[in-house]
Amino acid sequence: MISQDTIDNHAKLIAFQIFTAIEQKKQNNEHLVLGLATGSTPIPLYQELIRLHQEANLSFENVYTFNLDEYCGLSENHSESYHYFMHKHLFDHIDIPTKNIFIPSSKVEPVFLKDYCVGYEKHIQELGGIDIQILGIGRNGHIGFNEPGSSGVSITRKIELHHITKRDAASAFGGFDFVPTHAITMGMKTILSAKQIYLMAFGENKKQAIKQAILGDITDELPASFLQHHNNVSYCVDFNINTK
Ligand code: PGA
Repeated sequence: MISQDTIDNHAKLIAFQIFTAIEQKKQNNEHLVLGLATGSTPIPLYQELIRLHQEANLSFENVYTFNLDEYCGLSENHSESYHYFMHKHLFDHIDIPTKNIFIPSSKVEPVFLKDYCVGYEKHIQELGGIDIQILGIGRNGHIGFNEPGSSGVSITRKIELHHITKRDAASAFGGFDFVPTHAITMGMKTILSAKQIYLMAFGENKKQAIKQAILGDITDELPASFLQHHNNVSYCVDFNINTK
């Protein structure tokens, strides 16, 4: 059973770490780079960040954000696009400058794709790399849209969505056949370059993927397992991985 108290506590703790990091950077006249995720999992975190903005004067003026992924082909106004999601759940409620927001485009012409993806990586590096990366996880162990088969040294690229990912998204799109077939995603190497990572996973349906990611072999069959190579990952879950 999902424990709302545990989820809220994780959200508050991560939001507080982000708050502290933003304030520290501000004092040094520096910016913070956040890597952001979509899906139902990070919503309580975004709600807490909005609360801190509204009630504790947390400003995002010195923050840059890079989202993990976006579906190919959807309009940015589509209710399932990640552009729409991020504005609805976070950006419309805080004072982040629009120019500081980076989300992979859903509409890159094939001929420009390679340059576009290299450019996304370059923007991250030019800003000093991702300071704090927020992650969810798919039931198939995907991170962003690094689906099973993704290499540990992959960078931002276009990828075909896995059938489990499409099945999990089917109801939101009104059926499996309406789920976009491809997405642009940051790569595993991009994600592993973040200085600090919070992986959030709530609900028993995520337990097997988390268990394998932490305790299993490091394999491209479960891209989250590559996080074992990173020395600063916090796994924020609401279940006990030591029970069946
Ligand atoms: P969810 O998606 O937060 O909606 O469960 C997570 C993911 O697929 O990465």
